Amino acid sequence: MLNSIELLDRFEILEPENLALRHLRRCIVDKDVRSVFKVFQHFHSNDNIQLAETACLDLNAYAFFKLEENMFGSEDMPLLKKIIWQQNPWAIFTYLANQNVDPMIVKNIKGIMLLDKPKCLIKLLERQLPEDDLGLYFFTRLFYDSQTYDVRKIHECYKLFISKGIDIFGKDEKMFISMLNKVPLNVVKFCYRLYNKPWLDDIRKSMVLEDKIHYVWKVCEELLSPDIIKELKIASKNKFFGMKMKPVFNRYNGNNFYKLYQKATDSNAKDSVKITNALDMLGIVTGETNIINDVKGGLLYDNREALYNVVKYTSKDSLIDTLQRFESELPKVSLNDAFSRGQLFSKKWLVSKIKDLKLGTIILCAGWHGSLIYLFNREGIKFKQCFSFDMNPNCIKTSELLNKELVLKNWKFKATHADILKIDYNPCVFKTEKADGSTETKEIKPNTIINTSCEHIKNYDIWYNKLPKRKLIILQSNNYYEQKEHINCVKDIKEFKQSSPMSNILFEGTLNLGMYKRFMLIGKK
Ligand SMILES: C[S@@+](CC[C@H](N)C(=O)[O-])C[C@H]1O[C@@H](n2cnc3c(N)ncnc32)[C@H](O)[C@@H]1O
Repeated sequence: MLNSIELLDRFEILEPENLALRHLRRCIVDKDVRSVFKVFQHFHSNDNIQLAETACLDLNAYAFFKLEENMFGSEDMPLLKKIIWQQNPWAIFTYLANQNVDPMIVKNIKGIMLLDKPKCLIKLLERQLPEDDLGLYFFTRLFYDSQTYDVRKIHECYKLFISKGIDIFGKDEKMFISMLNKVPLNVVKFCYRLYNKPWLDDIRKSMVLEDKIHYVWKVCEELLSPDIIKELKIASKNKFFGMKMKPVFNRYNGNNFYKLYQKATDSNAKDSVKITNALDMLGIVTGETNIINDVKGGLLYDNREALYNVVKYTSKDSLIDTLQRFESELPKVSLNDAFSRGQLFSKKWLVSKIKDLKLGTIILCAGWHGSLIYLFNREGIKFKQCFSFDMNPNCIKTSELLNKELVLKNWKFKATHADILKIDYNPCVFKTEKADGSTETKEIKPNTIINTSCEHIKNYDIWYNKLPKRKLIILQSNNYYEQKEHINCVKDIKEFKQSSPMSNILFEGTLNLGMYKRFMLIGKK
């Protein structure tokens, strides 16, 4: 049984253009989760896949927010993005207003801090001071046009200002007049001198110093419910992804998508947990939850069934069904050699050289598991019928199972147990076993004789001498002397040609397969 690495490698050899397969191999073999997202991009033209990839694997919050917008469009998400990732003070107030945090305070903090409306400051003071506060009396008369005033009370206000150390007719006169003219900074400064409240000084600082957002947080903390502010402030100031995203995750507690994203990006979680959750997110994004479960099975648990399913998802080649059928019907037979890299490259090489040849009826000598004919069928090579002979009786079952489709097509492929030295070739008369166990005698006149097992053939010269003239002959051998079953290797193409003399050579060549070389001759005797 080919292991998962071999299986995916062989599919990639068979389908070099199939990028989805290539990504799948990377994902399963190299445990490269990013490749999973690439696999799905081949089947869905959906920007959300790329966003999910960047959001999960690069911890890119912007990608997450965009993905969220595309998928759910929650009203508060863009605000949280602006607050936490862009330190946007306007967003803080809009967000707080949506959260039912004391709307009157929110509105007025915003009014004074972002819109420079001093009247808003007075409204904030109104909330904190007793109704009969003298200063408040003064400010409401100054800012609320409709209010009447009592001159004696105004005089008392002046006395109050002086008692608080504000020299309204001396060194503080300029500031006082400017305050009377409602210049925001001076209103704030004046109020701070009068009431000495830290939040007033913070508003003042926000007007004259850099880092406005820092003071916005401070004022909000001082005047509003600290929990929500604390959470947002920590998130906006922290540089660690998990901390920054906390309000997002807290806010959406109970929503599976956010829960998955939280786990997929949790730096303390095991890799397998992160991968599982990232994949589940991808499942929601693509709607492909079944295949995502199979990817998980193949990627994390080396689950054979799941791997097959994923290969089927990426390749339309029926080989995967065939291999699966093989594993369940003939579990003891290994196709590893037949589908080794060397074998596949050698057979693909053969296929590439015969595309323009008329093959007609083929005799496949020492045909083994019939993988060559499987490739013929897969690559659309035209032939009338193929009769395979092998002296290993098990090869009837294996080659017919591999080529079941062709066997069922009126024996377009048929395997027979026979020694290729003991059959004749023109005509070839032989007994072959039918599906019901009875035998049938056949007589065929081949147009083509193929033997890709020449290195295995004892008394090769006797066999070769039996081949008729004027028939197309396709031969492969190798110089892989190290294999003890290879009793008829040749050292090079020259020696191969000497052992298989042809009057008309259509192709001769050598394929370097690393460990050994494969030689091929196509021609007529
Ligand atoms: C291991 S396989 C062949 C690998 C070869 N490179 C290929 O791809 O075809 C060799 C096959 O040759 C068969 N074989 C060897 N001598 C034979 C003979 N005289 N008649 C029929 N089959 C023979 C064996 O039974 C075996 O199935």
